[in-house]
Amino acid sequence: MKRFSVFTVVTMAFAFGVAYAQQPINIKFSHVVAENTPKGKGALKFKELAEKATGGKVKVEVYPNSQLYKDQEEMEALQIGAVQMLAPSVSKFGPLGAKEFEVFDLPYLFDSEVELHKITQGPVGQSLLKKLESKGILGLAFWDNGFKGMSANRPLKTPADFKGLKMRIQSSKVLEQQMRDLGAIPQVMAFSEVYQALQTGVVNGTENPPSNLYTQKMYEVQKNVTVSDHGVIEYAVIVNKKFWEGLPADIRTALEGAMKDATKYANDIAKQENIDALELVRKSGKTEIYVLTADEKRAWKKALMGVHREQGGRIGKETLDAIYKATGFDPNKL
Ligand code: LMR
Repeated sequence: MKRFSVFTVVTMAFAFGVAYAQQPINIKFSHVVAENTPKGKGALKFKELAEKATGGKVKVEVYPNSQLYKDQEEMEALQIGAVQMLAPSVSKFGPLGAKEFEVFDLPYLFDSEVELHKITQGPVGQSLLKKLESKGILGLAFWDNGFKGMSANRPLKTPADFKGLKMRIQSSKVLEQQMRDLGAIPQVMAFSEVYQALQTGVVNGTENPPSNLYTQKMYEVQKNVTVSDHGVIEYAVIVNKKFWEGLPADIRTALEGAMKDATKYANDIAKQENIDALELVRKSGKTEIYVLTADEKRAWKKALMGVHREQGGRIGKETLDAIYKATGFDPNKL
């Protein structure tokens, strides 16, 4: 058997050590939407900025469209460290036990992006993100998608139009009651399954901002879309806490800078992305788009304020009061 000299062994060990040290740190960033959406573009911007800021020491692999995991599965994957970064809709934190995040699902809570940002970019948002730490998750930022509309194969102008419709929702008690109070039957389902479920009639309708409706081609199987602005899809960019805290300090600082800039980028483009997507749906000629009048909106609000009253206790009075105070929203005054 060939014997290696001490010199050879030491040289080999050194070469191995250098090669190992030069391995980039990998961040797998998984998400469920298409690349040409506010979140999809934000993730790619973070990749570009993070790789540049760390001189290639960090490699970010972005996996869009539920390629790796579906909704709740991706949360488990993050907790066990199979992926390092996600940007789930905050509605998906309820099933994890962080039910305060379901506050974002309350109907008509926010009138505009400016009001939403008072929460997401302010102290209430920061204290919400802290609630994830006990789950092994660090919240880095909030990213916008936008205001939701409703879709189905019938016009949805009044609450009565929802009667008996099976409506797909994310797994949130607040969304469940929202659909019930409209007279519909809520059906929890993973995002990646919605197109097919609409196509085959497993569900009759759904809610989402135009960017998701368009890029998942849901409009192809929904004849009617109502611009109702009755709620928002908001994301939290989250990382595995242990992974993030174990990064060398200089790398972590560079990544935090990249996240700050990617957040500004994502939130700056979100509104226009949704305007453009709605226009593309309109141009397709497959779907009729209806915008609620002020009176119709009032009727929807009236039908939905019970969700605030009944779900408030579950969400937590402290969170709810802080948001009502910051936005000036009063469920008893329409
Ligand atoms: C949904 O499940 O409808 C959304 O949360 C998908 C997303 O990430 O925008």
